[in-house]
Amino acid sequence: MLMTVHLQGWLAGLACMFSTGIVFQILVRPCSNGEGVFFCPQSPKACSIVGKRYRTDYHFQPPKNWINDPCGSMYYNGVYHEFYQYNPNGSYNPNISYNIVWGHSVSMDLINWINLEPAIEPDTPSDISGCWTGSATILSGDQPIIIYTGLLDIQKHQVQNIALPKNRSDPYLREWTKAHNNPVIQPVVPGLNSSQFRDPTTGWIGPDGLWRIAVGAELNGYSAALLYKSEDFLNWTRVEHPLYSSNSSNMWECLDFFAVLPGSGGGLDLSSAIPNGAKHVLKVSMNCTDDMYMIGVYDLKRDAFVPDTVLDDSRLWPRIDYGNFYASKSFFDSKHGRRIIWAWSSETDSSSDDVAKGWAGIHSIPRTIWLDSHGKQLLQWPVEEIESLRTNEINHQALELKKGDLFEIKGIETLQADVEIDFELTSINDADPFDPSWLFDTEKHCREAGASVHGGIGPFGLVILASDNMEEHTDVHFRVYKSQQNYMVLMCSDLRRSSLRPGLYTPAYGGFFEFDFEKERKISLRTLIDRSAVESFGGGGRVCIMARVYPVALVDDIGCAHMYAFNNGSATVIVPQLRAWSMRRAQASV
Ligand code: FRU
Repeated sequence: MLMTVHLQGWLAGLACMFSTGIVFQILVRPCSNGEGVFFCPQSPKACSIVGKRYRTDYHFQPPKNWINDPCGSMYYNGVYHEFYQYNPNGSYNPNISYNIVWGHSVSMDLINWINLEPAIEPDTPSDISGCWTGSATILSGDQPIIIYTGLLDIQKHQVQNIALPKNRSDPYLREWTKAHNNPVIQPVVPGLNSSQFRDPTTGWIGPDGLWRIAVGAELNGYSAALLYKSEDFLNWTRVEHPLYSSNSSNMWECLDFFAVLPGSGGGLDLSSAIPNGAKHVLKVSMNCTDDMYMIGVYDLKRDAFVPDTVLDDSRLWPRIDYGNFYASKSFFDSKHGRRIIWAWSSETDSSSDDVAKGWAGIHSIPRTIWLDSHGKQLLQWPVEEIESLRTNEINHQALELKKGDLFEIKGIETLQADVEIDFELTSINDADPFDPSWLFDTEKHCREAGASVHGGIGPFGLVILASDNMEEHTDVHFRVYKSQQNYMVLMCSDLRRSSLRPGLYTPAYGGFFEFDFEKERKISLRTLIDRSAVESFGGGGRVCIMARVYPVALVDDIGCAHMYAFNNGSATVIVPQLRAWSMRRAQASV
């Protein structure tokens, strides 16, 4: 039976809070990049209130301490390896990542993890101040090899180094040896800023049979993906022109370069020949917050990446994820023939909270990534292995949500859940007009078009982690707009009321995707809730938003977090199907 409660009360409350001009402070702290010029959103001034229940139960994190980027993920001999930037000494970010090491965990299923000793530590002249991000490649003859950035000194000079497993018959590849000829690549390029030269990609083979990698760099004040070639992966020469460069920013971190076949859910292995019709993707990480990508072709003659569309303004570039998701890394999973991507999701409470919690940073759920059949948009979906943690299924069909309806989803553990819900539009006539200028700042538009603001079609979606009186809640919702050619869907993950604590970083994240009403009619939402992590996939994975939340209700341990489906648009929406599960704890975080 459909039980609805009218929204007026809580929406009026929200509207009142908004109109009284609550100021959403965005406080920042230096990020872990070489320059300290980028800033990660955090809340240094928020006083420290921490609860054990902020620790996630099925997102990847080591037992304790600070982590950032995933590095060198790979599948080798039946085992998934995850390496990550790790501070073995505490849950704080070591000053601009000095002395950071490569933490190492292994898994058989990408969900349950065994924590090992760090794999690569700063102990040679070419990495003495820190072992920064890099990638793994599996060479012919089944030889795994890692290429990573070494930090040389206090001036942050960077070079690229090689590490190889000491004993390939150890199933976990616990110990790694550094190459005698490290550093294998030095920053000897005219115009190169040697403190902005890092994060080498996984290798790929060119038509001449030589290995290639790209390294992110600041070259003459521009961002460049510098290209290097090698026969044996140990001796490298620079190709004179970069794989790609752009003046839209001055540095790209954590480059990722991979091939995809339009419309195929399967992944491609860069160590093998790439089939005709494949496209290439260049992913860049910028400003400590944005993982953006370009789709194009790899021009073999010019040995260069050529994007299908060049957008001068990087605010318009599509993003892998529109939320708290940075330094993503993908790898080819030869076990299932798919490409997997994941990223670092930083804490957005205060650094004193991190110290009190004893841990900081998680990785997103590993996601399968592929290209849509038009070759225009990447799609992502949580790896199916995550479904092994589902328990306690609840199921509702044919719910009708009229304007102002709020339907409580009961019967599962709402702090740790997986929710799949479809919203079917009954008509499209009420769609409000789309303004293309919103694309320049989707977060601003999500702030203006929050859950309490009535629209023609939408907002509709989920209210999660809601306290009894709705003082705290996080909203994930959609709106449909009519653009000139088609319809545009806005997806928001609005954290502005996610915690009663003042001073936290609580943005309203947002992204748009195109929607073909005639063909689709339904808009799907999947949200994974894992205590302080809320990871959402809209429109079958066209817009993804990772978010971190710190509700006070979790600290109080009162255990009541309500979950609702809602509609606050003029047009009625139908929920043909809603399925939700409690999620068990993975062995990822013990
Ligand atoms: C991205 C990053 C990388 C660097 C690493 C250091 O978060 O700044 O560019 O290699 O972190 O930990």
